[in-house]
Amino acid sequence: MSSKRFKIKSLSFQDAIDSLQQDVVEGLFAYPRSLPPKYFYDDVGSKLFDQICSTQDYYPTRTEADLLNQYSAEIIELVNPKICTELGAGSSTKTEILLAMLCANNDTFTYQSIDVCKEVLIDSANRLLKKYNNLYIESVAGEYIPSIQVAPKYTNKTLYLFIGSSIGNFSEQDSIELLSEVANKMDEADYLLIGMDRVKDHEILERAYNDSDGVTAKFNLNVLNVLNSKLGTNFSLDNFTHKAIYNEQQQQIEMYLISICDQEIDFPTLGKKMALEEGERILTEVSRKYTKPDICSLLKKSDLEEVAHFEPANKFFSLVLAQKTL
Ligand code: TRP
Repeated sequence: MSSKRFKIKSLSFQDAIDSLQQDVVEGLFAYPRSLPPKYFYDDVGSKLFDQICSTQDYYPTRTEADLLNQYSAEIIELVNPKICTELGAGSSTKTEILLAMLCANNDTFTYQSIDVCKEVLIDSANRLLKKYNNLYIESVAGEYIPSIQVAPKYTNKTLYLFIGSSIGNFSEQDSIELLSEVANKMDEADYLLIGMDRVKDHEILERAYNDSDGVTAKFNLNVLNVLNSKLGTNFSLDNFTHKAIYNEQQQQIEMYLISICDQEIDFPTLGKKMALEEGERILTEVSRKYTKPDICSLLKKSDLEEVAHFEPANKFFSLVLAQKTL
């Protein structure tokens, strides 16, 4: 789909299947067993994720939205961007807080949205284009690093967005690699606005990832459906339970799928079988939590420096504006 105000580029599908197979071999067939979190976000998973964001227990979304409502005017005044480029745009609900103001302040505005889920990009483009008739959208459906590399770079001042604490879903090394890639794409005048979840009481953290409505459990289990449909595996969702724990020492939530019985899964495209014992677990996501000094040091290691730091009174979450280190 492409209209005058909407262009979308999808990074190739065969690559996606090849990298899924490789990730399965390196993650699921290794110990401890794991899967990268990007496979959560098929159409169903992206919708479930939106539901997680509106649960009472998952505090990060509303905390970050409150910060955006409170500080958008200040951020826009400081940055005055002509383009926003967002990593992991999802449904763009929080981004719309900024976009509404940017469309009101500019003759035209360009929003580059990047996400692994093509359907969610199309749905949100349709919604946004109807509401803002001077908005232009260029989307890339793909993983962060290849997408940021192919996204057209304009000379106009750009505000890069990486909100929702998605940076926390990467290991320290991978997050430095990703942020350095963003820094590398940035001009001196560009800014990055990044959202990062803070270290806090473990009960609050664990509740956020074990919500009482059971949406996160559904979301976590859905990754097995993704494998079934893309790789023809025969996971039965009834044979697994969801559990998220806070690892205090590593400062991270770890989300697991736990096998509730002895079972064997077929991987026909790989010619392999995976035997799982009762109680055996698969790590499906980490979500790292940061202190203020952690944030500074991560940015520094990625050739970025903090320009402004916004946080709520309870210090649950940080929105940080950064520029490239000169
Ligand atoms: N970036 C979000 C986070 O780390 C992603 C997320 C929230 C998530 N809840 C989840 C991912 C549950 C998987 C499952 O907080």
